[in-house]
Amino acid sequence: MTPEARAAADAALAAAGADHIPVLCDEVLDALAPCDGDVILDGTFGAGGYSRAILAAADCRVIGLDRDPDALAEAAVWTPVYQDRLSLKQGTFGMMDDVMKDGPDVTGIVLDIGVSSMQLDRPRRGFSFLRDGPLDMRMAQSGVSAAELVNAADESVLADIFFQYGEERRSRALARAVVDARAAAPIETTGALAAIIEGVSPSKRPGQAHPATRVFQALRIAVNDELGELARGLAAAERMLGDGGRLVVVTFHSLEDRVVKRFFQQRSKHGGAGVSRYAPDTQDGTAPSFDMISRKAVTAGEEELTRNPRARSAKLRAGRRTAAPAHPPVMTGLGLPGLVISGSSR
Ligand SMILES: C[S@@+](CC[C@H](N)C(=O)[O-])C[C@H]1O[C@@H](n2cnc3c(N)ncnc32)[C@H](O)[C@@H]1O
Repeated sequence: MTPEARAAADAALAAAGADHIPVLCDEVLDALAPCDGDVILDGTFGAGGYSRAILAAADCRVIGLDRDPDALAEAAVWTPVYQDRLSLKQGTFGMMDDVMKDGPDVTGIVLDIGVSSMQLDRPRRGFSFLRDGPLDMRMAQSGVSAAELVNAADESVLADIFFQYGEERRSRALARAVVDARAAAPIETTGALAAIIEGVSPSKRPGQAHPATRVFQALRIAVNDELGELARGLAAAERMLGDGGRLVVVTFHSLEDRVVKRFFQQRSKHGGAGVSRYAPDTQDGTAPSFDMISRKAVTAGEEELTRNPRARSAKLRAGRRTAAPAHPPVMTGLGLPGLVISGSSR
């Protein structure tokens, strides 16, 4: 690298660090405990906040994976600073073992589930009801968009999506409003969808969330098959990690946290401390494939909450891989809503 290119990459790195505050970063480092020589997979690279913190904490290597090509393109200006310690790959963490099949063995995996600020803040990505743009919401920028889903799905499917993925109590009335509106004209923008929902919702009281919040969350989860990805990603991580490898997962809402909690419950020692030594090892009697690093979910402390209110709903769960074989990748018992939406993007 020329001195000029190095100076430009250093400046871009400083700007990236100043721009983005990763949630629960210290707690992620504590749970992941990176050591010299480790190879860590950051399965949700985003703005690279965790990756940079991990690279600063030990003389290790990081592989940054993201399904969003924009996330990787934006990082290309500063990643050269780390030379061969940081490499980037595009793909989904649900297929991380496939993406990594020719790569080195990984000793730790971190997942920070959800949407990035960059995705939310750009109107053209169509994630936010606060910024008008095309109704898109596809993280990978391929597959079925939110507009296609909203304009084509049966009313009952839309109602199920709003209820199951948005926990929206008025799901049926809102699905009806969407279907009535699209009969007049296709719903193409985030602003148009937000106006339809607002038009049939009681007026918002001070301090209350926008009436379209849950519908937008639900559509985003459906378009990106986020819960299916999470379940596949956890199972892939279990297959990839060897004895002592660490899996750290940060989630932002209860549907995701339930999947992570149940995954670790199924795979760690049943009953915790004090249980009879004759009790089965795990709920189904197989050898535990994870030891829990902390028994309860870790949440943000007061200091972080003051700095970054977005951390309020964040929960971290982490486990250390044992030498036992991986469990079969069964999706039952993880609390996944039984919704099948054909054509969701990968
Ligand atoms: C909350 S952001 C991660 C922020 C990151 N930890 C940081 O510190 O900058 C989530 C990122 O994960 C990506 N993502 C979400 N689901 C994914 C999946 N199934 N596979 C790969 N990347 C995914 C999104 O595109 C987004 O860039």
